Amino acid sequence: MRLVGLLAFTCLAGLTPLAAKAAGADTLTFDPNSFTTVHITLDGQPMEVRRYQMVYVAKPVEIDVTKRASLGGAPAGGPAPTANGTAPPNGQGPMASSTDPLAWQSMYVYVPATSTADAKTAIILQVNNGGWMASPARDIVREGAALSSTSDTDNTGAALKAGYVVVSAGTRSRGIVDTKGDWAGKAPAVVVDAKAAIRYLRKNDAVMPGSAERIVITGTSGGGGLSAAVSASGNSPDYLPELAAIGAAGIDAAGRSTVRDDVFATIAYCPINDLGHADAAYEWQYGGLRTASNSPASAVDAAHQAGSKTLAEAYPAYLESLGLKDASGAPLTVATLPAAIVAMVKASAEDALARGTKIPALGEDFEIARRGPPGAASTGVTKLKNDWLTIENGKVTAIDYGQYLAFVAANQTLKGVPAFDSSGNTGNKGVTGENSLFGSAKVQYANFSAYGWDHNDTAGDGSGRDDTGKDWAAYTAGEGAALARQIKLVSPIPYLTSRTTTVAPYWYVRHGTIDRDTAFAVQATLAAAINNNPKVKQANVKLAWMRGHAGDYDVQEAYGWLASVLRQAGDPKPAT
Ligand code: DHB
Repeated sequence: MRLVGLLAFTCLAGLTPLAAKAAGADTLTFDPNSFTTVHITLDGQPMEVRRYQMVYVAKPVEIDVTKRASLGGAPAGGPAPTANGTAPPNGQGPMASSTDPLAWQSMYVYVPATSTADAKTAIILQVNNGGWMASPARDIVREGAALSSTSDTDNTGAALKAGYVVVSAGTRSRGIVDTKGDWAGKAPAVVVDAKAAIRYLRKNDAVMPGSAERIVITGTSGGGGLSAAVSASGNSPDYLPELAAIGAAGIDAAGRSTVRDDVFATIAYCPINDLGHADAAYEWQYGGLRTASNSPASAVDAAHQAGSKTLAEAYPAYLESLGLKDASGAPLTVATLPAAIVAMVKASAEDALARGTKIPALGEDFEIARRGPPGAASTGVTKLKNDWLTIENGKVTAIDYGQYLAFVAANQTLKGVPAFDSSGNTGNKGVTGENSLFGSAKVQYANFSAYGWDHNDTAGDGSGRDDTGKDWAAYTAGEGAALARQIKLVSPIPYLTSRTTTVAPYWYVRHGTIDRDTAFAVQATLAAAINNNPKVKQANVKLAWMRGHAGDYDVQEAYGWLASVLRQAGDPKPAT
């Protein structure tokens, strides 16, 4: 006995901290006593928070921490700015680092001391995969931290004040390599990992503070897209093979699910979603107004202009195929979509006016934090003429849609052509953007749209007609079915429209009125898909006035909304 104990100790001592945690008898059982106490101040008052850390799967993928972030590229439009408008430091998107190979499938759980015996409170699940990049779990409630529940940017402070449990989850996604040398974050890994974290919380619901029936997934940009995909696809069997492979909680030996992975709500900012069709939407919306002064130089040469046109032409049929309805109940098509976008902009302006925000008259200047070329940090406050919005007697009386789009593009240089699936096609050089999310674990990237695939001109990269002899339709109908499946499994749209999943009943979604990282068409389509879904009880989906590509800028409103829908929903069912 002694010898075995000693051996076990010796082995554990050689493991990384997370591997040691994951080496217990049943790694997926929550131990209520295994916490450290973190002392913070919240609104200037001392508060104690129990901090747990665990690997949330039984068979985690070991990441090669020496190779992480070496490849994969930032989002095509440059790294994501953070809420305060600054670009992340390393040009790779907002990637946190870790020296622990299991950090990508681990999470921190923070429980306010006042909620340790509260089985009903909400659980805020924060995901951090900005740029659709991999993210090791971030320790966001540290000893000595000063948090605020009244700030509009401190979502963690607001959550802890409300007594919610806060979870900060890592996820695999693009940009990471495992210790076997494979690309470890290919789609749908990031959605699978978020679902595995949810399954851990549900499996342990009876012994964990908070209610797994009140999980709220929240994130920004790539994280917003992930939040939307998870919220749309609750309990879908599509993800079971990958969930089984990583030893997710609630998957039996035969690969069947014994635990649910649907969520209660999402708070999602600027969700980069529906990647397979985001390029067509972008060119449908912006293609006609691209100039040398609002687009990267490479996007306005003849080849890219032609590409833009081809992409734009593909959009109407796709949009129609979704069978969505606008707010008036009319079919959402390219004939009705501009009005749907304008209605969202109008509502945003009127909401701003109602809050006392000054909006310049037609012909006068907006003063906004201008963003320059892709990836550039904010250049400070700039004046930009209002040549599109008419307000009379405190009411919006006219919006010129074309001028509005040109205004957005004047404020921040548009993405290139294609905006997302830009690697290996149309003469584009280098691997950028979301391409590294797709393809097998053996290849660095794959094209993920009909256009990108059919215009791939990079011999030997495994993508496109040139390497496979097949166009997109033929390829994805045959040996490329796995690629088509990857694209589906990271998008909320197929799940919201299929009506076969347990869609989250409560949605809070924001996208800024001057955010050009994805088309408003994508967000208006997502809004319609949410609003049209019969399982959705309350959708609070809006454009945020004069916000760019950012998140967590309206914490008081978002957490006020959450408190109201929690009241509306009443007490959760007790865990069994
Ligand atoms: C993000 C930004 C992008 O432009 C994009 O294509 C994907 C993700 C982001 O900020 O997370």
